[in-house]
Amino acid sequence: MRGALIAIVATACCACTAPETPPNGFDWGLAPGIEPPPVPAANPQTAQKVELGRHLFYDFRLARNEKRSCGICHEDKKGFTDGFVRAVGATNEVHPRNTLSLSNLGYRESLTWVHPELGSLEEQLLIPLLGTDPIELGFGGHEDELTERLAALPLYQDLFAAAYPGSPNPITLESVAMAIAAFERTMISRNAPYDRYLRGERDAISDDARRGAELFFSPRAGCSRCHGGDDFMAIADDSGEVMAAHGFFNVGLYNVDGAGAYPDGRTGRHSITGDPDDMGVVRVPTLRNVERSHPYFSDGSGASLEDVVAVFDRGGRLTDSGPNVGDGRDSPLKSPLIKPLGLSETERGQLVAFLCSLTEEEFLTDPRFSDPFPRDE
Ligand code: HEC
Ligand code: HEC
Repeated sequence: MRGALIAIVATACCACTAPETPPNGFDWGLAPGIEPPPVPAANPQTAQKVELGRHLFYDFRLARNEKRSCGICHEDKKGFTDGFVRAVGATNEVHPRNTLSLSNLGYRESLTWVHPELGSLEEQLLIPLLGTDPIELGFGGHEDELTERLAALPLYQDLFAAAYPGSPNPITLESVAMAIAAFERTMISRNAPYDRYLRGERDAISDDARRGAELFFSPRAGCSRCHGGDDFMAIADDSGEVMAAHGFFNVGLYNVDGAGAYPDGRTGRHSITGDPDDMGVVRVPTLRNVERSHPYFSDGSGASLEDVVAVFDRGGRLTDSGPNVGDGRDSPLKSPLIKPLGLSETERGQLVAFLCSLTEEEFLTDPRFSDPFPRDE
């Protein structure tokens, strides 16, 4: 693959001034050796579309009552999450799940915690934009209001005209979706200290993080069986080879009835399918920038990385008080890959140090991915 990419770029060289710019003209700004994500033929990547998408992503006018934006729930400094236990929409409706962090979305085959079949960014964003259960941005049934609102603004008249040149009526729901998706494809985090360490910068991470990495990828801890691949979310074998892009598991967070039940409203895939086998099952999340995206787990019930690592070390979570009492370790629905590991406190700390080496500060503060609107702090 990499060889092919270099060959294409090489043939394009004679015609263009910047040899690293791919033939379609879009400069992904990636370090050598990192391939851009695939782009759907129906939505060619252009700088103008990405710039429009960035404005839309951060614009509160994308909420019907102007109380939310994509960017307020997916805030850069928080690893593109919101810091809430579970997301809160524009009308204060609470989402059943914790906000997912955003990075490397263009490489995903499956989006969200619970929709294995949903792979298209252009389609996914219609859920927050138009969804009514829960309401996130609130334009469901009022789509024309959104396009009329944008069309009334000179800013968007110009941005849409530049992004969709030659189109007589460029401001449509479809063109909104294509621009935001194009922006999302550019949000690539592949230059964390751990990436640089793998590329030969021996001092990019601490000794603790190095030991944590060894443990993470070891058969003993087995983390990388579920958190494998470039984004630490693919199914991999013990040699590191990726077997499937995404895995869906119950990791034993709850066992409220002794038969593996999760609390009402927090049942993962089960809340979509009703299938008893889907109780507590969610997609494995990426671990990139995870240090910043607390709280953790699909219901936001993991306060810190130390808490999360302790759950995996124990082989399931014990809840010993409150309404959800039960021992997730004994859940019959838990993945067999989740079992007591017997880690020492030092080893748990090393795993946390490794997870923190996946924080890419430059990505989280990159002006290309930040809010273009002036705000009062
Ligand atoms: C109210 C807060 C909120 C708003 C507003 C919001 N999101 Fe999200 N986002 C979430 C939550 C919660 C999830 C997890 C959803 C789930 O699994 O059901 C999520 C998931 C995602 C994902 C999937 C990430 C992955 O790893 O699979 C993408 C992509 C995304 N949002 C993009 C957007 C875009 C683009 C917008 C604006 C159109 C947006 N979001 C608006 C809270 C929000
Ligand atoms: C059986 C597959 C599997 C194994 C093995 C596994 N994980 Fe996970 N991990 C998951 C799933 C699934 C979730 C989300 C669970 C939920 O929210 O219900 C998760 C969540 C996490 C989170 C929280 C991420 C977030 O954004 O909420 C961290 C951190 C994490 N795992 C680290 C580890 C570490 C470290 C290990 C090894 C000690 C490990 N995992 C082993 C599947 C696995």
